[in-house]
Amino acid sequence: MIGILEKEAGEKLLFLNTCGASLVLQITGSGYVFMPYWGGRIECTDIRYVIADITRGSYLADANGQKDFKLEQMPQIYPSHGYSDLREPAFAFVYEDGSRITDLRYRSHWIHRDKEKLPGLPSVRPADDSEVLELVLYDDVKQVEVTLTFTVYESHDAITQSVRVENKSGEKIRIEKLCSASVDLLNCEYDLLHLAGAWAREFQIKRRRLEQGMQSLGSTRGAGGHGQNPFAALISPETDEDHGNVYAMNFVYSGNFLAGAEVDMHQNTRFQMGIHPFDFAWTLLPGERFQAPEAVMVYSGQGLGRMSRIFHKLYRDCLIPARFARRERPVLLNSWEANYFDFHKEGLVSLAGEAARVGAELFVLDDGWFGKRNDTTSSVGDWAPNEEKLGGTLPELIRDIEDKGIAFGLWFEPEMVSPDSDLYRAHPEWVMQVQGRRLEMSRDEYVLDLSNPEVCDYIIESIGRILGSCHIVYVKWDMNRNFTNMGSGYLSADRQKEQAHRYMLGLYRVMETLTDRFPDVLFESCAGGGGRCDPGMLYYMPQVWISDDTDAMERLRMQYGSSLIYPSLVMGCHISEVPNHQTGRQESLRTRTAVASWGNLGLELNLNRIDEEEKRNIAEEVAFYKKIRPTVQFGTLYRLKGLQSGNEYAWMHVSEDGRQVAVTYVRPLASPNTVSRRLKLTGLCPDAGYRAEEDGRVYCGRELMNVGLSPGKIRTDAYSRQWVFERVEESR
Ligand code: GLA
Repeated sequence: MIGILEKEAGEKLLFLNTCGASLVLQITGSGYVFMPYWGGRIECTDIRYVIADITRGSYLADANGQKDFKLEQMPQIYPSHGYSDLREPAFAFVYEDGSRITDLRYRSHWIHRDKEKLPGLPSVRPADDSEVLELVLYDDVKQVEVTLTFTVYESHDAITQSVRVENKSGEKIRIEKLCSASVDLLNCEYDLLHLAGAWAREFQIKRRRLEQGMQSLGSTRGAGGHGQNPFAALISPETDEDHGNVYAMNFVYSGNFLAGAEVDMHQNTRFQMGIHPFDFAWTLLPGERFQAPEAVMVYSGQGLGRMSRIFHKLYRDCLIPARFARRERPVLLNSWEANYFDFHKEGLVSLAGEAARVGAELFVLDDGWFGKRNDTTSSVGDWAPNEEKLGGTLPELIRDIEDKGIAFGLWFEPEMVSPDSDLYRAHPEWVMQVQGRRLEMSRDEYVLDLSNPEVCDYIIESIGRILGSCHIVYVKWDMNRNFTNMGSGYLSADRQKEQAHRYMLGLYRVMETLTDRFPDVLFESCAGGGGRCDPGMLYYMPQVWISDDTDAMERLRMQYGSSLIYPSLVMGCHISEVPNHQTGRQESLRTRTAVASWGNLGLELNLNRIDEEEKRNIAEEVAFYKKIRPTVQFGTLYRLKGLQSGNEYAWMHVSEDGRQVAVTYVRPLASPNTVSRRLKLTGLCPDAGYRAEEDGRVYCGRELMNVGLSPGKIRTDAYSRQWVFERVEESR
């Protein structure tokens, strides 16, 4: 609920209250908007004393001739630069006369329930009980209006923020920086937590103490990238899964981003999230608007576990396409590690048949089916089936595969082009490039310039033609390289710095058009694995391939990291061959399944080469997964062990109705002469009984949460154990 307290002389307090948190804005008589509080839920009471109590000294000038405060000491909600706040501003505008000072003051506010989709951008959809605050700020001298839009998700316990700039003057304005969210915390005793990594080892949790000065993370690669997810959290030093104060931000955007935490000389922290200002600028003509993407802000007073559960529920209910929020995800077999580029029709049909026999429901034909592609050196952009390789037309292949009792999905990489392709030969001007400069390849590809609407139209038409002419129920949408050679033949010289953002707007239009036109197709996004996994992509594509590394031990860390934000329902997790293709490790099928059953189980192995006994075992594992699938995909996740990235991982899912509980324990390395610690569960009903499927024994919820389970005697590396419990009314 959004509450207001109106005070004397135009002073106001605005309370953005969720079920568990409050973010409070204070509008002063002179129109500054301060932010006296963000934290656990409080009632709407007069807390102006927070601002009044800030009396620390400063050598800076007074603000606006007022003796009672200096801006630099004040917690603000959208700070500018040019007066007495010398910290990092939330935005930077340059005016035609070369001046850079903007003085935003409160003009009006509007509270309503009609959250609208942001023009051209993904955003979290409204919930039944969400409310919107539009706070309009204005600079009188330059006639620029900045609207901060907050959406308060009461029962989901989250707030989102986005920012819109409108040029109401008769002059051009150049936007050089525009944060989507900026908050000032009156403390600096935090750790910065974020998710870093590289190809094949995405989502590594990094944690370090904040120090005075600026610490930031971000990406200038054209996508979030494998290196940094657009997520950052400031957490109190004692924070673990169940304890501690957490302030988290996640960006609903798939391009360059910057998250910053600046600790100032007064021990306050300014925490920001937005489009990366590097190589970004936007010219706003008189009368034009610019819309910045949305940031999701979550406060948890109960550690990272609660933070994750808030993100998970919000993203399931209000971010991913609604038609997929309640749809069970198929067990798929992906042909990539089974065949790479080397396949022919008989092999594919046989593989699909074997996949169906072990219980898979979807066969995905990965790279290599189009143009003349037999390796990475050609054909990306030519989305015409290679009928020689497919032994006939694509619809014929699909029919033969469907005859085996399994659905069909297909891989595309729509945003790139091979130099050796008909598309590039016809339109060399469509790639990102600067004339006269060496054009750089990566994975033998160039990047198409999606800031050019014609390029986007080509993608819509060429991918749409295939999807419209065949029965394809799933698409893997890949993106296998980052941006180099930034430069657009389409944009004028003074708009070149708009290219990276215009690329994203173009991509979002492409994805919106195709997902609207083919609403039943399940899209899974991929960028060489988890190189572009963010809420912006999830808005269109409700599933993501989080890493090309399918090794179960490696996956533990990555799944743990991605689960900080992204729900199990969106996470693609595959059982692959041993020795593993990335690490050479040999893990048992049981352990590979245990790890892959954290998310949407898939297979990525060549069943044509596997003996009957192993296939029977795989079929049993798939059947096991299907029993817990609704619990994993729609239930509530509790992580039990693994935050320190040590030698033990454990997690559990409790089904929506609380009737099924699936628990997994994994220990990467055995060590001699140790007794394994018992595993205490959480999130159960203390008085209910829970029957273990394994031996029928009934435990009381309280018992499982306090005494816990024994992981057993561990005599092997990559050890795993899983338990499934059914809730029975009576307790023992
Ligand atoms: C990327 C993906 C893989 C696979 C290959 C195909 O690397 O991440 O899963 O699809 O492309 O070229």
